[in-house]
Amino acid sequence: MTVPVITIDGPSGAGKGTAARLIALELGFHLLDSGAIYRILGLAATDAQIELDDIDSLVSLSNSLDLSFPYNAEGTEIVLNGVSVGDQLRTQAVADAASQVAVHPPVREALMGLQRRQARAPGLVGDGRDLGTIVFPDANLKIFLDASVEVRAERRYLELIQSGQTVERSAILRDLEIRDVRDRTRKVAPLVPADDAYVIDSSDKTAAEVVADVRDLCRAKGLA
Ligand code: C5P
Repeated sequence: MTVPVITIDGPSGAGKGTAARLIALELGFHLLDSGAIYRILGLAATDAQIELDDIDSLVSLSNSLDLSFPYNAEGTEIVLNGVSVGDQLRTQAVADAASQVAVHPPVREALMGLQRRQARAPGLVGDGRDLGTIVFPDANLKIFLDASVEVRAERRYLELIQSGQTVERSAILRDLEIRDVRDRTRKVAPLVPADDAYVIDSSDKTAAEVVADVRDLCRAKGLA
């Protein structure tokens, strides 16, 4: 039996994580936050003083990660080797380290199995950059969620402020622009919509409106 998979890809701050969690909750599906996997690798490498271009060490670190993503209506927990990792993944430094380790093809390959294993009955909703193109090319429904860089920077700013971090709006915008270029232009698994993805622009939509759009597409595909 094949397990139904819904992928939500797009740039940082487009609202993928919230949409993925709320849809997973409605359908009772498992959740995969693939960005968290790259963030954990970036954080673990930094903690272990591994250079972010030391591919062999990054690959062996990748192979040791055991992750799960329990979630509820309020948020998603990230559990690494049985321990909740919490807010330390949500810093700009970790996001930057994540996007640097993510450019290496052997590292992406090493993380493939971990991502695919999350597709368990009754189904999976995953969010990331390459889930519809590379990780789950046969997904039942593929969404590409986009928004203008200004809107995404404002959302990220509010999120970081709410989590108690001191950040500058202009620094967030600059960081997003740098990460966007790196994610969209890397040679392997660049951020592009799959040919069969539905593109949704969330710039002028609330999270509830995005979820309503995704719900309609799920119904049209017989997933809800
Ligand atoms: O989605 P999030 O901002 O947490 O992702 C952090 C970084 O991880 C991204 O900027 C991207 O470089 C990388 N990533 C990736 N492929 C994914 C998910 C995230 O390359 N499927």
